[in-house]
Amino acid sequence: MKDYTIAVLGCGVMGTAVTSAILSTSFDEYPSKIICCNSSEKSSNALKAKLTHPIVEYSFGAESNKNAVEQADVIVLGCKPYMYKDVYEQVKGGLSGDQLLISLLAGITIEELQVFSPYVAKVMTNTPAQFGCGMATIAFSSEAEPKYEQLVMKLISPVGKAIKIPEKNMDAATALVGSAPAFCLLMMEALIDGGVRMGIPYDTARQCAAKVMEGTGKMVDQTGDHPAVLKSKVCTPGGTTIGGLLKLEDAGVRGAIARAIEEAANISKSFSKK
Ligand SMILES: NC(=O)c1ccc[n+]([C@@H]2O[C@H](COP(=O)([O-])OP(=O)(O)OC[C@H]3O[C@@H](n4cnc5c(N)ncnc54)[C@H](OP(=O)(O)O)[C@@H]3O)[C@@H](O)[C@H]2O)c1
Repeated sequence: MKDYTIAVLGCGVMGTAVTSAILSTSFDEYPSKIICCNSSEKSSNALKAKLTHPIVEYSFGAESNKNAVEQADVIVLGCKPYMYKDVYEQVKGGLSGDQLLISLLAGITIEELQVFSPYVAKVMTNTPAQFGCGMATIAFSSEAEPKYEQLVMKLISPVGKAIKIPEKNMDAATALVGSAPAFCLLMMEALIDGGVRMGIPYDTARQCAAKVMEGTGKMVDQTGDHPAVLKSKVCTPGGTTIGGLLKLEDAGVRGAIARAIEEAANISKSFSKK
């Protein structure tokens, strides 16, 4: 696709993260215009203050959404999941039927999203995308996959890393990719609390916990080893680590985290039935 326009319908946390990520890189098939749409003037002005770029335009309100969609070859849907039907009602007069729709919404299925266009890429990403170290999973409608897969990968990969998955795994990915940063933050908070309890100043404990999380993630990613293999290498017989791990197992931490993914995935699934 050449000299094309993207309309971002809902430029809040995630819409802005994806837009900023696209603007921070360059690739062939680069858009010539991105129109960032919000519902209120206040949000539009706040966005203008933090995201300025020669190819970006800003708008707000229902009529502007429709105007943006009329100009768009690619539509990024970044509103809250429950809002998508209202947004559709606002823009339906501007849909051409062959635009590519990239949805960032939790829950809403490809079939439901196809009211906008047959060409749908359903993306699940997360808040670390704001810093270029996010994760994104992408499922395509059967119509979009052959025509738009390469373009979508180019547009979404700048958030950090993007991989294609089947739609049946998207609710689980919503939990594992979208919600899990909050679960990791809870774990980090607990690590910091433990450090502080044992006398380390908060700021030092915060830096240690953040680097431990980051480094452990990199180690798993780069070695490709199962976490259990890496974990066993840290456990000196009779040492500190095995002692701490047994406390975590006694408290059921492994099951609680896995069940948190299950619960978040089930909630994501329920969104599409509303
Ligand atoms: N936050 C996360 O961690 C996360 C993670 C993964 C996926 N997601 C998904 O990302 C989506 C967006 O979440 P978010 O956290 O980015 O929400 P958010 O920060 O509240 O952003 C939603 C945006 O939609 C705009 N909006 C509302 N109605 C609109 C309309 N009719 N036309 C145009 N724009 C409209 C809002 O503008 P106003 O402020 O002007 O109303 C706001 O900028 C959700 O569907 C969620 O499932 C979020």
